Amino acid sequence: MNRSTQIRSLSVSALLALVTAIGHVAGAAAQPVTIKPGAGDDFRAAYATALEIAEGKRVAQSACARCHGLNGISTTKDVPHLAGQRPAYVYLELRAYQSGARDDKSMIGAVRFLSDDALVQVAAYYASLEPAQPGAMKPAMGGAKPDPVAAGRAAAAGCAGCHGEGGVTKMPGMPNLVGQDPKYLVAAMKAYQSGQRKHDMMKSLLGALGEADFNNIALYYALQKPARAQTPASGNAAAGKAAAAACSACHGDLGVSGNSANPSLAGQDAQYLAAAIRAYADGSRKDDVMKGPAAGLDERVARDLAAFYAAQQPRPPKVRKPFTIAEWAERCDRCHGVNGNSIDPRLPALAGQRVDYLGKVLHAYRTGARKSPAMAAMSEMLTEADVENLAAYYARQRARAFVYVMLPSK
Ligand code: HEC
Ligand code: HEC
Ligand code: HEC
Ligand code: HEC
Repeated sequence: MNRSTQIRSLSVSALLALVTAIGHVAGAAAQPVTIKPGAGDDFRAAYATALEIAEGKRVAQSACARCHGLNGISTTKDVPHLAGQRPAYVYLELRAYQSGARDDKSMIGAVRFLSDDALVQVAAYYASLEPAQPGAMKPAMGGAKPDPVAAGRAAAAGCAGCHGEGGVTKMPGMPNLVGQDPKYLVAAMKAYQSGQRKHDMMKSLLGALGEADFNNIALYYALQKPARAQTPASGNAAAGKAAAAACSACHGDLGVSGNSANPSLAGQDAQYLAAAIRAYADGSRKDDVMKGPAAGLDERVARDLAAFYAAQQPRPPKVRKPFTIAEWAERCDRCHGVNGNSIDPRLPALAGQRVDYLGKVLHAYRTGARKSPAMAAMSEMLTEADVENLAAYYARQRARAFVYVMLPSK
């Protein structure tokens, strides 16, 4: 099923212009591919002759087929499909394994003794094959992980009874959860769970939850629209304002903290605030930082401070709403082509690739085990769930073959 065709006596730049043009004709290109004429050796595999491709098949037979298949369709976990992969990319990766820039024991062993010509040929051969299609694979993708905000909302369903819808409390004594930095909320939940912050009821309410739940819940509340607690305050806010000068260095002038270690106090329920100050002062809530500021505040000052902070406008913490998979894919596709069908022969196609392999390499970029400046910047921002969902998303996309160009022989 070798669709390769001959390319004769053509300059590199003319050919690359053609490859580019075909990408556009295929209707895929949102982003023009800029390939500099004379870009050189890296592109050799993209304009291989039929003879070279046939030579490449022999190399594949003896050195690669037992892992990647002679048809370039892998049946082994973590071993990528190569059929239809972009030729310049394959060649560059083979060189990366050969130089040790990309680390993998099986691959380093496989390419160690191959000549540069053999690398060009085998790259051209695999690129010339029909790519694997999602339908041909076992549907081993499982359910997509829900996005963290939706997961957080679900996990927080039972919290609304006390903390209010969206974390805005209506019950005196119950703290607002909205308007807090998610790091603070996570730390507070962990402190209840470990018993470091003593509150039997909160401890048992959080008992069954794990780290991921805490992160999701905190993110969910951090993204809700901040509003003041809908509860009364009994103190004197004007008097509280004067006393709050001692607190502003850590909690912000108007109770909006800029530091995730220090909770925001703006809009917080007044009764809860006063109770917290008392608890720090009498040691029932242990905290080395708050012990000092709370000591010596009498009941009246505590209520005034609480009234002042409760009256302030809470602000959203600085958190980015995570991208949906569609929003991510739009960004990935700028380099990897529409639905992961790259039209730049140097950039890998992702469409139809094995889901396990895609997940594995995205992790490798994140940890830095596989190095690429372009991908490091991208993958740093991906959450665990994004990685799994993007791997599943691209594995599901219909793969388009790389187009070798048929040229009239003059
Ligand atoms: C012993 C099994 C084995 C053999 C033999 C082998 N490979 Fe691989 N190959 C792998 C594995 C495993 C990976 C994934 C490694 C990684 O994550 O870096 C891989 C990755 C690759 C990649 C990177 C693909 C991508 O999408 O980035 C290319 C290209 C490749 N192999 C080509 C070849 C060629 C060409 C040969 C023959 C010369 C060959 N391999 C022989 C196991 C093998
Ligand atoms: C039955 C009422 C009730 C329910 C239900 C409840 N909480 Fe609470 N929560 C409280 C009370 C009361 C406090 C204050 C405890 C204290 O004084 O430390 C609190 C405190 C907190 C705090 C600390 C706030 C701060 O500013 O430090 C967090 C975080 C929290 N709860 C999260 C949750 C989450 C998440 C859920 C749902 C899984 C939940 N709570 C369910 C009553 C409740
Ligand atoms: C040196 C920094 C610092 C100063 C000054 C400070 N705080 Fe705090 N405050 C913190 C930190 C850190 C916490 C979180 C402690 C914990 O985890 O229990 C906190 C927690 C609180 C809480 C609990 C909030 C909640 O959501 O549970 C209240 C109320 C509070 N501070 C009030 C005050 C008041 C009133 C003052 C001034 C009299 C003050 N703080 C001064 C650092 C400070
Ligand atoms: C700025 C261009 C650019 C963007 C945007 C980009 N990539 Fe990449 N990607 C690359 C390059 C270049 C490589 C090859 C790097 C290498 O040699 O390791 C690559 C490699 C990969 C690989 C490895 C393919 C293989 O066969 O081994 C995966 C998977 C991948 N990218 C996924 C993504 C995903 C998912 C996104 C979006 C979150 C994304 N990329 C966004 C440029 C980009």
